[in-house]
Amino acid sequence: MATIKTASKDTIREAAEILRAGGIVAMPTETVYGLAGNALDGAAVARIFEAKGRPQFNPLITHIADAKDAEKYVELDERARSLIAQFWPGPLTLVLPRRKDCPISELVTAGLETMAIRMPAHKTARALLRQCGLPLAAPSANRSGEISPTTPAHVAGSLGEHVDMILADGSCTVGIESTVLDLTASTPTILRPGAITAEDISAILGCAVPYAHEITDTPKSPGQLLKHYAPSIPVRLNAVDVRDGEALLAFGSIKFMGRTSGGFAKDLPDTMRRNLSETGNLNEAAANLFAMMKALDSPSHTAIAVMNIPDTGLGVAINDRLRRAASSRNMEP
Ligand code: TXA
Ligand code: MG
Repeated sequence: MATIKTASKDTIREAAEILRAGGIVAMPTETVYGLAGNALDGAAVARIFEAKGRPQFNPLITHIADAKDAEKYVELDERARSLIAQFWPGPLTLVLPRRKDCPISELVTAGLETMAIRMPAHKTARALLRQCGLPLAAPSANRSGEISPTTPAHVAGSLGEHVDMILADGSCTVGIESTVLDLTASTPTILRPGAITAEDISAILGCAVPYAHEITDTPKSPGQLLKHYAPSIPVRLNAVDVRDGEALLAFGSIKFMGRTSGGFAKDLPDTMRRNLSETGNLNEAAANLFAMMKALDSPSHTAIAVMNIPDTGLGVAINDRLRRAASSRNMEP
């Protein structure tokens, strides 16, 4: 069982140390307990997914200490500014375009050009954010498929020893996850309903605020509505060699991998190959996945050839994303 520590100056400092060292901590927020890790550190974010046992890499919410910090990561428009002034700190998550120079790990945003961000209202969450001085990626602190936890005991029962520390501060007052509002299109759209309602948002923006399921032809769950990162060139899975013009996304040793045109994969120019993890470490591979796919996603390559990744642990989520990337375009047989 993970250590449950009651929030105090000392334990908040301790939790901040764990986060700065790349660890993961369950923290209270006003909505639900979150499983927090340094959003700038892909390896820490990979540990969050590992602890949750998530079969998929869904993009995570970045939590910030101060509304001013939002400018560093996302493009704010007038709508975002007025909603922030009204509802932050609080249970409203805004989905906004990622800034070009945004330092947040690509794993947090699952390779998307958009990013979800919120400033929590809970005093312990805010103290922890200030103390560690980092933006924190934090999904709800439950194993995948279980409901979001609103008490420390609930977190402990769900995540057990998968988390470095549980920072305990009673029950969450809101009890349901934050409202997720997409501001990346001209119509602001609620992707996930929460305590801040369409009416609340509409009153500030002066326009109608539909729920995402109301504006699609077929009702879908928020997860299905989500766009997935897809490279602009084809992706070829389970590659055992590299074809002419292809870039290589490797996993493990490529010592003996050949090129169909002759020669070895290891002799490809640097711009044409990346290795998710030379030692075959799935955590490292997850941390690198989206940034490396993007690095190879160039019109000068005919496709990205991806080596086989074992379908265990984080490999399941990695393969899920790779399959989506591969099927988003029609690959020639
Ligand atoms: O109240 C909350 O929001 C809690 C606490 C811990 O802050 N967190 C939470 O995180 O519920 P999570 O990961 O369980 O849910 C994040 C939601 C998901 O529905 C995800 O699809 C959506 O936010 N989301 C994140 N980034 C997105 C993006 N770029 N575009 C669209 N939706 C996004
Ligand atoms: Mg959740």
